Amino acid sequence: ASIPQLLMDEVQPALTTSGGKVTVVGVGQVGMACAFSLVTQHICSELALVDVAADKLRGEMMDLQHGLTFLRNVKIEANTDYSVSAGSRLCIVTAGARQREGESRLSLVQRNVDIFKGIIPNLVKYSPNCILLVVSNPVDILTYVAWKLSGLPKNRVIGSGTNLDSSRFRFHLSQKLNVAPSSCHGWIIGEHGDSSVPVWSGVNVAGVRLRDLNPLVGTPEDPDKYNEMHNDVVNSAYEIIKLKGYTSWAIGLSVSALVASILKNIRSCHAVSVAVQGYQDIDKDVFLSLPVVLGENGVTHIIKQTLTQAEIDQLKKSADTLWDVQAGIQF
Ligand code: NAD
Ligand code: LAC
Repeated sequence: ASIPQLLMDEVQPALTTSGGKVTVVGVGQVGMACAFSLVTQHICSELALVDVAADKLRGEMMDLQHGLTFLRNVKIEANTDYSVSAGSRLCIVTAGARQREGESRLSLVQRNVDIFKGIIPNLVKYSPNCILLVVSNPVDILTYVAWKLSGLPKNRVIGSGTNLDSSRFRFHLSQKLNVAPSSCHGWIIGEHGDSSVPVWSGVNVAGVRLRDLNPLVGTPEDPDKYNEMHNDVVNSAYEIIKLKGYTSWAIGLSVSALVASILKNIRSCHAVSVAVQGYQDIDKDVFLSLPVVLGENGVTHIIKQTLTQAEIDQLKKSADTLWDVQAGIQF
């Protein structure tokens, strides 16, 4: 008899899947920050990694597996073949080119669309009921592209969007007010990146709106210069890329919060990239971030924020910019 047979009696065969499987495509800086965040916070029970770089992929898989003693027993697999992703409830796409110093996110579009053509159909082939979570940039446009390529309903295709920008904004508020970021409430919506919209009309701590305390808050006329916080948010990625070459930890953490809300049906609100036509007067078929409720079946509700006319106008401008870029994409 073999050692397993001598060690234990089989009562019934173990199931091969646990229902909490997540695939991460792209094991670069962002993909691995997402993977690390997911396994260390016990958010998924199975993790599949996919990349075209076979050696790097195997190295990353082994390195994570060797830490499993210190985690819960997540099953971690990796392969260049998409069959490894079969049965995923959620697939995160982080593959593709990233910005070089000074380069904008929008300049990556056609390079990453071409990469998505090889990724999205394969994910859907092996996990036809999955939720797609797009992180690669430009994330709003690539979420639209992933939706088109996947044939999935809109509620199952989500972009990580301005969940990250909102977190950056709340960090800056926390520094200014000396109150924890989780207690500083503020939303950045619209495009992830250059034309994002800070919803100053709603920024509050414990329900006290800063705009009621200072009607100029967030405007260029404000002597306290709170508006610089949004400039800092917009410049964050450019600055970090200049300093360390890429961004990773904050996006990894922000993605794992989205995944937790979906897999555990937490129903928390996040600003993520969704199909926005018909909301806030937007008439273009684009994906942009608005606050939504996330649950087991993806986006279940879009929050109808009370925005000022100026905020709506900024959002519509974002939509127009993305629509123009989308029109130039070759599928
Ligand atoms: P990276 O260069 O470190 O990693 C990219 C990975 O993609 C590499 O491992 C590469 O082998 C892989 N890849 C390339 N083509 C592939 C294909 N066809 N199939 C599978 N894998 C493929 O880059 P990074 O720093 O991890 O950034 C990845 C993407 O995430 C970029 O587009 C970047 O702009 C974006 N990003 C988005 C956010 C956000 O908030 N949405 C934040 C940070 C970075
Ligand atoms: C970010 C990436 C580069 O960190 O989109 O904002």
